[in-house]
Amino acid sequence: MTSPNAPHADRYPAGSAAFPQRDLIALAGLAPWEILFLLDEAEQWVELNRQPHKRDDRLAGLTIINAFFENSTRTLLSFEIAGKRLGADVVNMLVAQSSVKKGETLIDTAMTLNAMHADAMVIRHQSSGAVRLIAEKVDCPVLNAGDGQHEHPTQGLLDALTIRKAKGEFAGLTITICGDILHSRVARSNIHCLTTLGAEVRVCAPPALMPADIEALKVRPYYDFDAALAGADVVMMLRLQQERMSGQFIPSPREYRHLYGLTLDRLARAKGDALVMHPGPMNRGIEIDSNVADLPGRSAITAQVEMGVAIRMACLDVLTRRSRKVEGWA
Ligand code: NCD
Repeated sequence: MTSPNAPHADRYPAGSAAFPQRDLIALAGLAPWEILFLLDEAEQWVELNRQPHKRDDRLAGLTIINAFFENSTRTLLSFEIAGKRLGADVVNMLVAQSSVKKGETLIDTAMTLNAMHADAMVIRHQSSGAVRLIAEKVDCPVLNAGDGQHEHPTQGLLDALTIRKAKGEFAGLTITICGDILHSRVARSNIHCLTTLGAEVRVCAPPALMPADIEALKVRPYYDFDAALAGADVVMMLRLQQERMSGQFIPSPREYRHLYGLTLDRLARAKGDALVMHPGPMNRGIEIDSNVADLPGRSAITAQVEMGVAIRMACLDVLTRRSRKVEGWA
């Protein structure tokens, strides 16, 4: 079941042993070969998505529910496109239009969705742990599209695929993640993913936005952005997540940009061919200058969006193999 351009097919077991999980809630705890398997599976979808006819009907007849309790543009659209390109019926439940606003509990919502016989659910929720709670109550695979400050596993995977396509192997790479590490599920998923794959990860933030236990995640914390950038192969910038901040975490956006904004001058401290990444949405002129975000040959920001669709196709395909009784997975 691996794609013809699977560069690591010898590194993981055959059939369902390559990815034994029912759900995709977190990248923490996955084995390197489980991650590599999903990255390899995505390669065929990168190719398909570049064709004029972008359709494979392997999920025909399946229903996928995207239940988004928190706003999203690119992640929702990306999952919707992914499901549709694989032939599934995709239904979006957006919280502004749902009974959740009327006070329905999370578990009641989960039970309602379950009764509709979805074949997979993609869930985004503002509370860390909410997606796992729903997964425990429903009968189908659940994919976490971001839960609070916990994880955003498909973002971690799409970032890893973007890096692999530009830089090859992860061992020997130095990757600097800078921004609001404290509130970022993207940072957490990337840290787990990239350290598991063997990269050296540096995280950089103002002291108020650095988690206290960060060293337990096998990364090096930096408070000086210039030092964190020195010799980096990849620079990943994160948004200041104001909506998760209660109180004053940074002095002012101007001061923040001065100390932690990625400018062309700052980028020159990283390697000459360092890749620039951002998961979006970007605050241009705060954490990243426009001339860096749009830098030809260096910015991978649109490549990240492209890889996102392919990764989500891979995850939806792999997680529904059991119910589709695919050979080796039944
Ligand atoms: C991120 C998210 O929602 O966690 N965005 C995304 O999924 N592309 C990051 C963010 O909101 O800053």
